[in-house]
Amino acid sequence: MCGISAYIGKENNAAEIVFNMLSRLEYRGYDSAGVAYVKEGNDKISVVKDIGMVENVREQYISEHSDLCIGHTRWATHGEPSKINAHPHLDCKQELAIVHNGIIENYLALKKMLEDEGHKFVSATDSEVIAHLIEKFYNKDDVLTLEDAVRQAIALLRGSYGIAVISSKEEKIVAARLGSPIIVGIGKDKDEYFVSSDTNALLPYTNSTIPLNDGEIAILTKNDCRITNKDAIPVQKKIEKILYDLQSAEKDGYAHYMLKEIFEQPRVINETMRGRLKVEEGLAKLGGVRMKDEEIRNISRIIFIACGTSLHAGMLGKYLMEEIARIPTEVEYASEFKYKFPVLDKNTLVIAISQSGETADTIASLREARERGANTLGIVNVVGSTIAREAKKGVYIYAGPEIGVASTKAFTAQITALYLLSLYFGRIRNTISGFALREIVEEFARIPEKVQKILDNANVIKDVADKFYNYRDFLYLGRGYNFPIVLEGALKLKEISYIHAEGYPAGEMKHGPIAMIDENFPTMVILVKDNVYNKLMNNVEEIKARHGRIVAITTEGDGDVKKILKEHDEVIYIPKTLPIFYPFLTVVPLQLFAYFCALKLGRNVDKPRNLAKSVTVE
Ligand code: G6P
Repeated sequence: MCGISAYIGKENNAAEIVFNMLSRLEYRGYDSAGVAYVKEGNDKISVVKDIGMVENVREQYISEHSDLCIGHTRWATHGEPSKINAHPHLDCKQELAIVHNGIIENYLALKKMLEDEGHKFVSATDSEVIAHLIEKFYNKDDVLTLEDAVRQAIALLRGSYGIAVISSKEEKIVAARLGSPIIVGIGKDKDEYFVSSDTNALLPYTNSTIPLNDGEIAILTKNDCRITNKDAIPVQKKIEKILYDLQSAEKDGYAHYMLKEIFEQPRVINETMRGRLKVEEGLAKLGGVRMKDEEIRNISRIIFIACGTSLHAGMLGKYLMEEIARIPTEVEYASEFKYKFPVLDKNTLVIAISQSGETADTIASLREARERGANTLGIVNVVGSTIAREAKKGVYIYAGPEIGVASTKAFTAQITALYLLSLYFGRIRNTISGFALREIVEEFARIPEKVQKILDNANVIKDVADKFYNYRDFLYLGRGYNFPIVLEGALKLKEISYIHAEGYPAGEMKHGPIAMIDENFPTMVILVKDNVYNKLMNNVEEIKARHGRIVAITTEGDGDVKKILKEHDEVIYIPKTLPIFYPFLTVVPLQLFAYFCALKLGRNVDKPRNLAKSVTVE
């Protein structure tokens, strides 16, 4: 993961600009931060770096004139979080500095080779080898330029990297990527250039970007930007515009990005549906899928690949694809899929789901799927990201920038896309009657206002959290469409409050988890009116018989649940909908519950410990 940023141009406060960009990239890691720049009139590299968050490190920086700077915010992989392991890293002569996002898999062999040649290493990181490798080639016989040296160095690297490099001898930034994102930002008057791990950090400065592809190198000076391939051959690139504005990436008065993002969900569902859910015609259509009807009819199997919250969206997608479109569907952890020699053919559709479009495991699995001849489709939020570009077909979810590390609105947008896709496939494959489709489409259009109703009553959920935040463990139970939702709800609680929570299909409770139930082990149960309602009521009875406390999420007007609960139990009511749509309405209280528990416990809600939003290492 890690975030990198860089600036070169007309402004002489380059380090401040880079610090600003780094604070917008902090969701990618926040173990340490640092910048390297060349002071005006000086030919030495200055470095300010330390353990901790960007703001802490910024306090140590004393303003100096510079028009060239690179910076980094770290999520530690190799080497503990410490000042010495913080980026930027320098070569022996301290003439060049690098920042790196990714993992250099052959760093031990390279380090040995470089040490044997006399290079002195100071950190425990894999990244430092990049600085020494470039040094090895740089100015050898005074011939090579920085870009040539970078080119020679990266040819020896195995693994993944997004790097930015500066030298005290040349006024330029060289950036390169393989597997980790690098976006070049172009100043309005083409007199300043930026480098960033994502578009969000560029937003305050420009909305014109050039995302690099794997193997490409950008050479940026104050008034020029050249992109080449690894063999120094120029590559013509199109300038891409960022499609959202600065305001949509700010907190808008909410205490945390996560809270803002939870509250954005009604709007986000509408955005994802827009132009795709045709209520008048009673159908769903997805342009980006670009599949002929014949091709859709020929799909013999779907495999969802994803990680974290996106995986839970995929699990719900399986229920939808099987019930609505009658396509056999599997869900695979992206980190497992690639290494299990998957059996694939051209009629298998592999769907990669990813908010960032940059998750290394998901990218690796998508490539594996392509190589093995499967058809591929990406359901992605970040426009222009690697998965969006590499999948043969794609559906953007239009959730806008998601900054909170724990994913919320991207999940609801992902599942919106999955409902649309299943309805679309179901119609083409004739697995759903026109009458049922119309009823579903009409109710789908009402979902945003029902989600809004839950948000309007967020205080009820806060009161419940205030009574339950002190428990160490939780069981989350749901069945059918709500099974993936309890997994997601439990994940939210773990991620931001650090309370242990286990999501379980309710029917399995009697095969293990019931042994843990007592008055110190509460259960969150989703108990909505669907075909397994009575079975879940039995679960609740069984828990009560063992003195377990309950929080039940149930539908308005349901008087039965209350009858079997005791005074220390709680009920959260949600609006009624069709059984298939409950996930939209059950996930929101679980997100809010996790948020309010974390708040009460004083956790860093937007940046929980040890996590990063975008996991760009396998
Ligand atoms: C990290 C994030 C999660 C996210 C997962 C997958 O673990 O902290 O919130 O769900 O990566 O990310 P993606 O961008 O591929 O959806």
